[in-house]
Amino acid sequence: MRKFLLSTLAAGLMVAAFPALAEEAALPHQPWPWLGVFGQYDKAQLKRGLQVFREVCSNCHSLKLVAYRNIGYFGFTDDEIKDIAAEKQVQDGPNDQGDMFMRPARPSDRFVPPFPNDQAARVANNGALPPDLSLMTKARPGGPDYVFALLTGFTDPPKNFTLPDGMYYNEAFPGHQISMPPPVADDAVTYADGTKATKEQIVKDVTAFLNWSAEPELDVRHSLGLKVMLFLFVLTALLYALKRKIWADVH
Ligand code: HEC
Repeated sequence: MRKFLLSTLAAGLMVAAFPALAEEAALPHQPWPWLGVFGQYDKAQLKRGLQVFREVCSNCHSLKLVAYRNIGYFGFTDDEIKDIAAEKQVQDGPNDQGDMFMRPARPSDRFVPPFPNDQAARVANNGALPPDLSLMTKARPGGPDYVFALLTGFTDPPKNFTLPDGMYYNEAFPGHQISMPPPVADDAVTYADGTKATKEQIVKDVTAFLNWSAEPELDVRHSLGLKVMLFLFVLTALLYALKRKIWADVH
């Protein structure tokens, strides 16, 4: 009983000392398809999320850890990936004359960032730096639930809240003032697969895509886990049968 009381007290103190913990606990959980031991990504959703990233987020955010060929996992053909990559230009070289030159991106290139460097990104965004999104769902407490809450959390500020110029009020962002303008609204994209593009749907899809970029091996890990459990189950049954046979004569 004493132990229980002490640990409850300790947990209470932790939450009091680190309000972030309490805020994380308050984040509503979304029913992501990849949750649970056997959960898997929904590849149609990843394709939609990629479309949202390319059409909206990639105007400000980079995705430096993902190469174009990686999206082959969603079911794109090699030619489709080549076309998607070739829409962006990257610097290459030097050529035989010693000059750097621009060429269309190839499937082996990483996603081409919208700005050549951090300074240029800040100048275009009122002094704020849009962070790279490759590992974003791993980098914030609450992961995909936080990204979902952030992208759907833009509201008018409460009456007594003074919002500096160029800042937006966001319920999920720590401190509530963020320099990212609300990036999505209903019908911000027209989905290639005909799915209705409500704001919530768009946010769900792009968050799923960002979870994949941070954790692309999840599907393999989950299906391997299932196989290992099945193997252990069969092995246990065999060993039990063997044990009964070996000891059958001993009474
Ligand atoms: C007009 C430019 C712009 C667009 C478009 C944009 N963002 Fe941002 N984003 C920013 C800036 C600037 C910040 C940094 C905000 C800050 O630190 O105040 C940011 C920050 C973020 C963060 C980090 C928040 C944190 O906790 O630090 C996430 C996640 C994010 N954006 C996701 C997205 C997604 C997903 C999209 C596409 C649906 C998107 N953004 C589109 C400019 C943009």
